[in-house]
Amino acid sequence: MKTKLSLRNSILANTNFCSRINSLPDLGVGLGLRREFDQYLFPENKLLKIPEINWLEIVPENYINIGGKASARLRKAHSLYPIISHGVNLSLGSSDELNIDYLTSLKQLINQYNIAWFSDHLCFTSIDGVYLHDLLPLPFNEATIKHIVKKIKFIQGFIEQPFLIENISYYMMMPYSTMNEAQFTAQILERADCGLLLDVNNVYVNAQNHNFDPHKFIDNLPLERVVQIHIAGHSQKQDMIIDTHGSPVIKPVYELLAYVLSKTKPKAILLERDQNFPPFGDIIDELKLIKQFVTAVPEI
Ligand SMILES: [Fe+2]
Repeated sequence: MKTKLSLRNSILANTNFCSRINSLPDLGVGLGLRREFDQYLFPENKLLKIPEINWLEIVPENYINIGGKASARLRKAHSLYPIISHGVNLSLGSSDELNIDYLTSLKQLINQYNIAWFSDHLCFTSIDGVYLHDLLPLPFNEATIKHIVKKIKFIQGFIEQPFLIENISYYMMMPYSTMNEAQFTAQILERADCGLLLDVNNVYVNAQNHNFDPHKFIDNLPLERVVQIHIAGHSQKQDMIIDTHGSPVIKPVYELLAYVLSKTKPKAILLERDQNFPPFGDIIDELKLIKQFVTAVPEI
């Protein structure tokens, strides 16, 4: 019977995602492309790059098979900035089969806009083909791991570009869990041989709501697989905090970002802002602050 260590080593020996990370572009600090930003990103339809924004992240579902203003926005964005895709519809944990039509369209989008990697969430978003428009948590157990690893291997083979999974925020522990979230996530990353989009705000929100140490959580992840980071604001609702992307990033989340950056060097960091939009200058200030954290961290 293999020891835990030899099992981990044999998994790593057969992996090649980490060796591919070096060849991915260093994108810097980016912003999620939202229609609310159109007037600032493309004022009077002029194509001028904003120096504080190094790249843009899109939700592919907002652009697949959609023309008109959405398609025009994406073409303008692509003419100025590198684009990265962050999807919501793969529904990795669902018992639903993968949607091949969706994957085919996603691959086409990725190729058309020279997207260097793509990501989706470690969750389920559909039941019996009905999309629930929410990121729902999974039971952290071996059966779920096996199910998701099989799907990720297929997705990476189909799209032929590096794939990242993102840790979500969740507000209840699903029954039938036999391990913690860090163990669950690490197993999937290594057995599927994919990358991690580490959302530091989600780590903070979960740590507060479920009473665990966010630093220990981060320490228990295979940080060499972090390609991208998300950072965002959240809101206090009675005795819980909710991942709203609707307020400024708070100091403890920046501190968690600094902690991650002291241990690994991601290819890209993204500020997520999806509601309660402030003056655009405030968002630019947040991007500048994130860059200060990046430059303040000594070379690893
Ligand atoms: Fe995120």
